[in-house]
Amino acid sequence: MNTNTQLSGSTLVIGGTGKTGKRVIQGLRKREVQVRLGSRTAELAFDWEDQATWHTALKGIDSVYLTYYPDLAVPKAPSDITEFCKIALHYGVQHIVLLSGRGEPAAQQCEDIVKASGIAWTIIRASWFNQNFSEGAFCDMVVAGVLALPISDVVEPFVDTDDIADVAIEALTVDGHKNKLYEVTGPRLLSFTDIAEELSKGLNRKIEFIPISIDAFKNEMIKQNTPADMIDMLLFLFGEVLDGRNSYLSQGIEDALGRAPKDFSEFVKTL
Ligand SMILES: NC(=O)c1ccc[n+]([C@@H]2O[C@H](COP(=O)([O-])OP(=O)(O)OC[C@H]3O[C@@H](n4cnc5c(N)ncnc54)[C@H](OP(=O)(O)O)[C@@H]3O)[C@@H](O)[C@H]2O)c1
Repeated sequence: MNTNTQLSGSTLVIGGTGKTGKRVIQGLRKREVQVRLGSRTAELAFDWEDQATWHTALKGIDSVYLTYYPDLAVPKAPSDITEFCKIALHYGVQHIVLLSGRGEPAAQQCEDIVKASGIAWTIIRASWFNQNFSEGAFCDMVVAGVLALPISDVVEPFVDTDDIADVAIEALTVDGHKNKLYEVTGPRLLSFTDIAEELSKGLNRKIEFIPISIDAFKNEMIKQNTPADMIDMLLFLFGEVLDGRNSYLSQGIEDALGRAPKDFSEFVKTL
């Protein structure tokens, strides 16, 4: 952990209403950093679909917490990230902290674009979030008590978005994190059966995990009117990324913060 210089200036938090972004905003404000929210609902709206809004959002900004939506693996991400970095450089941005996805070659391509942008960078390469079960795609399943997902016994090092935000805040406010990559995971490898057990224990009610086929999953998402881009992303994640390639732990939280990551059982206590 570095405890040197407090950095100053305005920080744009893209995805600032999302699972990591809102925590980054809270933490930066606590450290009295000037923050600008970057999302479609912000006062100065930022929309990945409208490049004019990127200019408005980046004017007067020194550093950026960059999350891409829906995922760095979508085909247009590399061109959007390339253009975004060019505009950021033009407006004098000095540091980009990029949230990336672990085990996704397309996300790693976007990391390379940020690294080559001419702007100092920090990359937070994250495994699956704990908060997907409380604020994200699987929240309704947890409420209904059935995690019906197209996966079997693969184990994942689920990571907490509080920890990801802490790494981003540290990188944005304290010297020593520029041009570093932190691969962040939780402290334990868990299967979806383990996740259902942990949720059942913590919530004191039965949460069942039922493995289903990818087609059954897709049909259920369509029935629930899930947006098409979200369905595509989930099919990509379950069909490709969750194949065991991420079934190992990394030290990014310890390296950046000098402390252990939060366990899934601690996350469940916050529900
Ligand atoms: N979820 C995971 O387990 C996980 C793991 C590793 C990496 N990641 C990466 O994290 C990133 C965020 O994913 P997430 O699922 O966790 O979402 P999220 O950050 O919880 O929410 C999405 C955010 O993006 C904003 N947004 C949505 N559409 C937008 C648009 N067209 N233009 C500008 N902002 C937009 C939303 O705000 P408004 O609605 O106000 O615009 C919201 O702030 C993705 O790149 C993903 O690959 C996620």
